[in-house]
Amino acid sequence: MEEVIRIKGQKLLEGTIHISGSKNLCVALIPASILARDVVVIHNIPPISDVYSLVEILEQLGICVEYHQDTLIIDSSNVKYHDLDMPAMERLRASYYFYSVLLGMYHKVTASGIGGCRLGERPIDLHIKAFEQLGTKFQKQENKYIFDGENLHAGHIIFDKISVGATINAILLAIQIKGKTIIENAATEPEITELCKFLSKMGATIEGLGTDCIVIKGGKTLHGTTFYNIPDRIEVGTYALIGAATAKNLIIKNVIKEHIQALLDLFDILEVDYSIKENELQVRKSKIKKGIIVLTAPYPGFPTDLQQPLTSFLAVNEGTSVIIESIYTNRFAHIKELNEMGANINVTNMNIIIHGVKELRGLVVNGKDLRGAASLVIAGLIAKGETVVRGLEYINRGYENMIKKLRKVHANIELCIEDFGDN
Ligand code: EPZ
Repeated sequence: MEEVIRIKGQKLLEGTIHISGSKNLCVALIPASILARDVVVIHNIPPISDVYSLVEILEQLGICVEYHQDTLIIDSSNVKYHDLDMPAMERLRASYYFYSVLLGMYHKVTASGIGGCRLGERPIDLHIKAFEQLGTKFQKQENKYIFDGENLHAGHIIFDKISVGATINAILLAIQIKGKTIIENAATEPEITELCKFLSKMGATIEGLGTDCIVIKGGKTLHGTTFYNIPDRIEVGTYALIGAATAKNLIIKNVIKEHIQALLDLFDILEVDYSIKENELQVRKSKIKKGIIVLTAPYPGFPTDLQQPLTSFLAVNEGTSVIIESIYTNRFAHIKELNEMGANINVTNMNIIIHGVKELRGLVVNGKDLRGAASLVIAGLIAKGETVVRGLEYINRGYENMIKKLRKVHANIELCIEDFGDN
């Protein structure tokens, strides 16, 4: 038996969606909080499965955690070393932020592999190279990663490729090492800027926030603090695309305009009917009469995490569009499913060519990763008839209560238990 999402499409949505806290920031804040060896309080933490996995790891490191409503209270004053080989490490990719945190604290870390959505090649060579530039000796033994940090030192890291995770891991290690570390070609995602604000509130000295050159004066003793997680910009984008595809009027609250500017620019080109005032975005169903070429890119470019929801949105229109997926080698698992629903999309190299069609038809479809499963929910809301989306476990990793939020704006969507006989 399997929990699935059942959708009856073509309902006109109307109402208000409240955006939850950022998944991609909180998965960095939670490991980073250990560096305080004190009490850290973080508000606006969404109850998604990635958060529970990280809390499980904290507790195995002897850390006391309380989680009330959307507030996490993390007391790491009695943290103790443990090899990073617990099962939770393999449930998400961001568990690797514990590598840098424990390496700086204990100078030696043995870790198992990490998890994360299958989006093609996702090595960690940039993380390892950054650690080595700060004096770490790395070796891989069978499926174990061994980091030796006996001779850590400040350094000058120049990333030859922009990486969100590697930038965060470099920052988390460098702030523990006495001296000045410079990180060039750093990723500039809002989540990194916010993490640096969090670390600064804990007593760290970090310059260059929001730029691609971060300068850290490391080795200071850090202390507890209180922090507010920002709204999840990818959740905003997901619901904005749902609104543009299906809503009489969808009000999306807790929006930071600059974090979704790339999507708003795209809406302007496509003449999507929307308005934004302070932290509230309103979007209405808009007939797309032309194609568009979109390149996914590091922030502030169009986010790869919205490529899959955008593919579903563009599947039904009058034009031909191309999305160039420049970040991942294989973030295309949703295309086959969309084509079975009647879309006309093909992929050559990293280019997704979308020939708009009049209608999609409901079907049983398989979500294979977090944003891909979300894109199939969008397709189900657009399609004629009934769609069953498998892969709810992926959605629950990154979207708080998606079914509840959509039902509140009159989507005909429910959680069901089905037996497909194949699991
Ligand atoms: C973060 O992943 C996000 N995850 C991803 O969101 C997001 O798609 C990605 O950044 C890009 O914006 C979190 O923040 C938890 P990268 P990350 O390192 O850090 C290659 C979602 O749906 N690379 O910026 O893993 C990599 O293969 C998730 O919420 C190396 O080659 O992404 C990719 O092609 C999915 N070597 C590119 O760089 C490395 O050592 C960008 O990856 C690391 C990365």
